[in-house]
Amino acid sequence: MNPTVRPQPGRSHDRGRLVVEDLSLERGNRKLLDEVCAIFEPGVVTAIVGPSGAGKTRLLRCLNRLDEPTGGRVLLDGVDHRSIDPRQLRRRVGMIFQLPAVFAGDVRANLSYGLNDPDEEELVVALDAAALPAHLLGQEASTLSVGQAQRMCIARALLRRPECLLLDEPTASLDRDATTAVEQLVASLAGQDLAVVMVTHDLLQAARTADRALLLVAGRVAAVGPADEIQARWPTESAS
Ligand SMILES: Nc1ncnc2c1ncn2[C@@H]1O[C@H](COP(=O)(O)OP(=O)(O)OP(=O)(O)O)[C@@H](O)[C@H]1O
Ligand SMILES: [Mg+2]
Repeated sequence: MNPTVRPQPGRSHDRGRLVVEDLSLERGNRKLLDEVCAIFEPGVVTAIVGPSGAGKTRLLRCLNRLDEPTGGRVLLDGVDHRSIDPRQLRRRVGMIFQLPAVFAGDVRANLSYGLNDPDEEELVVALDAAALPAHLLGQEASTLSVGQAQRMCIARALLRRPECLLLDEPTASLDRDATTAVEQLVASLAGQDLAVVMVTHDLLQAARTADRALLLVAGRVAAVGPADEIQARWPTESAS
């Protein structure tokens, strides 16, 4: 395990535990999320799966307040996350999007963004955790492959020492090799005591990568369990 993301001394066991209580999100008179309950534990990778339009992205966005739920609440380490400064919250609960968010400048600048003068070794350790070589530090980030860029984004999130990492279809724009690399990285994150929540429409990916899956259908939790057992609960087209 690399030192950057090793659990910090004195860290309580529940650090990074996300508890979702009766979370609802209404837009107009539509319920995009309907009384969702879930617990995301440190050291566990959870896949959120479900048909297109089920509310997976909305749920993820509610977890770090990119969207404000209209009902229910989210507790981070026992504290209502609305009482946490949003910038602080997004540092503690990192988010990786479908398309890697690459800033202008080289990889070093991308990794260092918003950090207080991180030392070279920290950056190299973060790259290594994302299975990227140190020599990339001086490379323009815009010249990375999409797969490398996505892993750089994960390295950037890890440098902020998050307690939870949210990923929304992180392999959607990647080829097979890059997908495998990101899946292996995501699966390894739980060993670093992070609560990992990954949205995917792909049950096989959930089975390869996650410890458990939560099936969302029409904004409601339809099932929670091992990914291979969720298959049976997936709605048929007429039911969804
Ligand atoms: N701003 C909005 N106002 C109203 N409806 C919205 C808004 N944003 C999203 N929706 C609707 O909310 C529902 C859930 O959307 P969401 O993007 O969370 O689905 P998803 O499960 O992530 O789907 P996909 O697998 O296609 O990414 C969809 O029916 C979508 O049309
Ligand atoms: Mg989505």
